[in-house]
Amino acid sequence: MKYTTKNIRNMFLNFFKKKKHKIICSGSLIPNKNSNLLFTNAGMNQFQDYFLGKKTYPFSKVATSQRCLRTGGKHNDLDQVGYSDYHNTFFEMLGNFSFGTYFKKESILYAWELLTDEKWFNIPKEKLFVTVYHQDYETYNIWNKIIKLSTDNIIKVYDKENKQYESDNFWQMGDTGPCGPCTEIFFKKKNHKNNIYNLDDKKQCVEIWNIVFIQFNKVDKHNVIPLNTISVDTGMGLERIASVLQNVESNYQTDIFKKIINYIRDTNSLITENTQSLHVIADHIRAAVFIIKEKIIPSNEGRGYILRRIIRRALCHGHKLNIKNHFLYKLVNIIIETNHNETKQLKDEKNYITQILKNEELQFQTTLNNGLNFLNKKIKKLKNNNINHELIFYLYDTLGFPIELTKDFCIDNNIQINQKKLDNFILNKNKNRKNQNKKNIINNIIYTNYTSKFCGYKKFEVTAVVKKIFINNQEKIKILKNETGIIILDKTPFFGESGGQIGDTGIISHNDIFHVQDTQNFMNTIGHIGTLSSGKIKINDTVLAKINTKKRLLIQNNHTTTHLLHTALKEILKYPIEQKGSFINEEYLRFDFSYPYTIKINEIYNIEHLINQNIQKNIIIKDQIIDFQQAKNEGYIFLENKIYPSKVRILSINNISKEICKGTHVQQTGEIGIVKIISYKSISSGIKRIEIMTGLQALQKIQTQEKNIKNIQNILQTHYTSLIPKIKKIITDHEKIKKENNYLNQIIIKYQEKKLIKKIKKIKTINFIMHEVNIKNIKSIKILINLLKKKIYPGIIILFYESHKKYIFVIGVTKNLTMYIKATNIIQIIHENTNSIGGGKSELAQCTSENIVNIIKIKENIQNWIKSKI
Ligand code: SER
Repeated sequence: MKYTTKNIRNMFLNFFKKKKHKIICSGSLIPNKNSNLLFTNAGMNQFQDYFLGKKTYPFSKVATSQRCLRTGGKHNDLDQVGYSDYHNTFFEMLGNFSFGTYFKKESILYAWELLTDEKWFNIPKEKLFVTVYHQDYETYNIWNKIIKLSTDNIIKVYDKENKQYESDNFWQMGDTGPCGPCTEIFFKKKNHKNNIYNLDDKKQCVEIWNIVFIQFNKVDKHNVIPLNTISVDTGMGLERIASVLQNVESNYQTDIFKKIINYIRDTNSLITENTQSLHVIADHIRAAVFIIKEKIIPSNEGRGYILRRIIRRALCHGHKLNIKNHFLYKLVNIIIETNHNETKQLKDEKNYITQILKNEELQFQTTLNNGLNFLNKKIKKLKNNNINHELIFYLYDTLGFPIELTKDFCIDNNIQINQKKLDNFILNKNKNRKNQNKKNIINNIIYTNYTSKFCGYKKFEVTAVVKKIFINNQEKIKILKNETGIIILDKTPFFGESGGQIGDTGIISHNDIFHVQDTQNFMNTIGHIGTLSSGKIKINDTVLAKINTKKRLLIQNNHTTTHLLHTALKEILKYPIEQKGSFINEEYLRFDFSYPYTIKINEIYNIEHLINQNIQKNIIIKDQIIDFQQAKNEGYIFLENKIYPSKVRILSINNISKEICKGTHVQQTGEIGIVKIISYKSISSGIKRIEIMTGLQALQKIQTQEKNIKNIQNILQTHYTSLIPKIKKIITDHEKIKKENNYLNQIIIKYQEKKLIKKIKKIKTINFIMHEVNIKNIKSIKILINLLKKKIYPGIIILFYESHKKYIFVIGVTKNLTMYIKATNIIQIIHENTNSIGGGKSELAQCTSENIVNIIKIKENIQNWIKSKI
């Protein structure tokens, strides 16, 4: 095939190479930090600053094939996938760009040549028409006078609702950023006689190339300002132009998608007409693979949330296709195989990508099963065929079951949903939650631009002056006995909670003592939160601020250990793990990080070992304040999502650990003493958590564990070295005894069965036995009752035994009697006589009497009741 997707990409880039353009690699799917986009949504994103004139690009003419994702913001195609033949969430955009060299005429001539010249794409000219922005006369004239396109093939597109620049032919990257009028080239799928096309009707025509003349910068919602340099940004969806050149009806019928869809069909043995679901899966797996490649993992916010939505939507469609096994993660291969542009990079990341997808798929399976079980149970109980909207919300909000799937389920089971009520309910819930959050924040926030100085890295107590006092968020001049409030000092040794490290506690004393229960940062102010035990403290009082030193030293041990752990993880797991959260208090530390594989026990030991080794080396810890940029250049670790000031504190433990960190630390690693990993687990897809204790607390933990082992040794009367063989032997013996016991039980049950058959009495036509047994095991009695039931059809069997001065009754009723005599009815009669506790079903139930009771009387009552029923 001449026009394979791969060839089209190459031809495009070659064409522009011949026109003296520099060919640049695709930028990342994650835009640079200054961008306000979550994902790259157009070829021009990587050049944003050059269009705006903030920087000068080394080449003035470039061309790319850029990975793009349109799943949110101004350009969102997520919901179209599955319904539109020409939309993808993930796609490649072919584009040529001019930074201030050529403009309208040249860019239009290039596009026309590439599309229509027989050496290139060879599309018949009469199959194309164009749109232009209504005020862009220059472009109109170029199409008409230079390209010689007839006027009925040039459509002017106007502003929507007369709002300037609100037009399909005025392209904007996002809510802000470079923008300008554009001209779009359309392919006519069928020639309409009068040449009138509905631009939105993809059966008539499809837009293939957009040429944007970047002339403005949108600075905010209402303001668009002209740029000094005018540039060109063009974009042609590779998958779309492939569908035109391959003469097929949809992106999903092009060579690449055909392969992916066939693979999905073959590997899951699908014979289905549901192309909608196949399209969604094919599109979404491509998007998911490329997002994960950028080291994004599924989560509940930001990029991770988009990824989770995409994966879950694909899994829901897998469910619709009745695919029973986990399937999505098995598609990574075909995505790699069909992406000829980045095969190598994808292959290197294959295992990682597969693992992340697999984790999410397994996790979602549980949600899916729970949701379906819940729904199945609920619909059995429905009185009519309407399902309550609160129930759907519960499924979604608490069980994480997608509303879309509930809807499908209801359609399949002929159940109606009141969509309006559901929408309103969700709206109100969200509103309430927002208000709730607001309330919490307001309660904890104090507003002050006062800056207090932290001097607690080395000093644990200082004399300071009271600068501000807040009670119930109101600024006051004094705080009195028993009042709770926030005190601000000019300088303080108290560390305000940050970077996972909890705030200090301690006292602020004047003549009276203010007990500090927590310390928090409010902008540049450190707030001591606590209660005054007597007297009063006023503004300008000189006080002694003294932290709880013992607690602080323990916290420091744990904080420095967090840094040592971070390094040890990278070294032992040989993987660029990323910190995802931490919590450090005086008892332990918790560290969450991204790592897609299972951590093996040996790796845990090695991590523990390495940290202890670095502690033994008793390394001096150094800190320094430097420029953030310098710290970054020198490789100090920082958190991607955190905003740092221009000057930061760096902390280094030789070359072992280099981090940007405000926290408080030991002076030499030896102070920590010893560390013990107390737990490690997976907390969500791709995120692991390790918890550690340090110093004497670690020792105590080890001693407790040792004590437990010693206790076990004592109980088992064995030496440490024989402990494991002994436990294994006990288990084997136990299994053996259980088997023997079962065998003996069978014999006893058989024996009892024979004995009891002889005790059958007739109550009219019904066989009746009520007898004490010496099997003191409910399970065996139930087996016995089931055996007897087969022999004495129709019958009622009541067996009981005495245990701890109580009677235990088990009642069996043969099925044919349960219409009018139920085992639970008999329990009720026993209960009336003995205050028993119990329950069960109509064929089998059990209860326990409160004490020893008169069996003869109960038996009489039961018999009489049965008589009354037949
Ligand atoms: N930025 C324009 C678009 O995305 C042209 O590349 O359509």
